[in-house]
Amino acid sequence: MIADPAAFIRANTRLLPVPHAPEIRLHLADEATALWEKTEEELGALGLPPPYWAFAWAGGQALARHILDRPAIVRGKRVLDFASGSGLVAIAAMQAGASRVAATEIDGFALTAIEINAVANGIVLEILSGDVLERPVDPAAWDVVLAGDVCYERPMAERVILWLEAAAAAGIEVLLGDPGRSYLPKHRLERLAEYSVPTTRALEDAEIKRTSVWALRAR
Ligand SMILES: C[S@@+](CC[C@H](N)C(=O)[O-])C[C@H]1O[C@@H](n2cnc3c(N)ncnc32)[C@H](O)[C@@H]1O
Repeated sequence: MIADPAAFIRANTRLLPVPHAPEIRLHLADEATALWEKTEEELGALGLPPPYWAFAWAGGQALARHILDRPAIVRGKRVLDFASGSGLVAIAAMQAGASRVAATEIDGFALTAIEINAVANGIVLEILSGDVLERPVDPAAWDVVLAGDVCYERPMAERVILWLEAAAAAGIEVLLGDPGRSYLPKHRLERLAEYSVPTTRALEDAEIKRTSVWALRAR
């Protein structure tokens, strides 16, 4: 088991600009870091789930870019970044002028990575642990919910979309960033913008992923 997650993250990542949002720097795994090389079995032996927090996912990069270029979406608003991973989208929302941003994660290492990455960018975030999908989003607490790259597994995607639909029905603005993952319900979404996001062949099947930002409207 890893006794000091913050030390592990620092030792296995490099503080690098996000390719599609270089105004944000994150602790990321790349070819120069040991984490990049490790297989899922080796990580499992260390007690480490897949390190989603060590990558800036295409969906999160597109959503971060979208918000940074259109700060009015979040300016002065209370924002929840669901499944924050590295904290990328939450940091972008604070940089764009949100009044309050909370990042949610179920992975303990991600919670630590979000904290370290927020500090590296001079940002203060609220960090919420536990599964927020177990209760509805409180429309009295949040104006905007953001979700970067959350439709990569069917059971998770189904739960997330139901929860986001409930948020939209309660009057919350809901935006997703997604590069066309298998379980994205496109018929329920309105495409707002499309980006060419640099990614890596070790994670994806391409070096550039066409990635969209989508709005989920109330039915
Ligand atoms: C592909 S990563 C995306 C991370 C980030 N949003 C981005 O775009 O870079 C998906 C993340 O969802 C998190 N996750 C999965 N289920 C969750 C849940 N119920 N609540 C919060 N986070 C969750 C995982 O731990 C993982 O970090």
